[in-house]
Amino acid sequence: MNSKEDQYARQAEEWTDRAYADAAAYLSHRAALVVTLGPLLEAGDEVLDLACGDGGLGQLLLDRGLRYRGVDSTPEMVAEGSRRLGARAAIELGNLNDYVPPAPVAATTVFRALYYARDRQSFFRHVARFTEKKLVFDLNPRQYRLDEVLADLRVAGLGRVALRPFFLPQTVALPGPVVAVARALERSGPPARLALRFRFTYLVAASR
Ligand SMILES: C[S@@+](CC[C@H](N)C(=O)[O-])C[C@H]1O[C@@H](n2cnc3c(N)ncnc32)[C@H](O)[C@@H]1O
Repeated sequence: MNSKEDQYARQAEEWTDRAYADAAAYLSHRAALVVTLGPLLEAGDEVLDLACGDGGLGQLLLDRGLRYRGVDSTPEMVAEGSRRLGARAAIELGNLNDYVPPAPVAATTVFRALYYARDRQSFFRHVARFTEKKLVFDLNPRQYRLDEVLADLRVAGLGRVALRPFFLPQTVALPGPVVAVARALERSGPPARLALRFRFTYLVAASR
């Protein structure tokens, strides 16, 4: 086990509550964008969440009437996810580079884990084979060149892209009114793009 895997194994218990200062606000905003950014998801659609951690996003998607399948390569995360979601979801051990769901899914998501793709273009191609509506992931534009990621998506046949800045901080809990302002600023165009030069991420929804 390398040190990163070991770290995830040790952090699996209560991962979501420790990784997010305000998990409810952060993950419900993420869940809303999974549903609405790009092609709309409908009740009954299945979401495959690759590198799902303890499945913290799962409850928010189940609450919206979606089905949830989580996959993670850390056994302790899978155990936590299974404990958290019980029979309402399928949580499996697997590697995002080669996992294939038993049936095609409406959407595949990858949050805070794109860097585990061995080869990004091959990963997008792989996901496109079993994803019917869209692939949704977060992207730090200071870590990855947006134009290169968009080119890889096009090659994989996922060239229709909706981008949305995501301005809720992970490690700071904001008061409700500030959350509302942050969410409004996500749609502000140039000021939002300026902020992304220094902080925050995009949410990307890629479809055919
Ligand atoms: C930073 S956490 C993100 C968890 C969750 N997606 C979230 O946003 O809170 C990264 C997760 O990726 C998992 N992971 C790392 N490499 C992986 C791989 N090759 N396939 C599947 N999961 C992987 C880790 O076990 C860990 O749970």
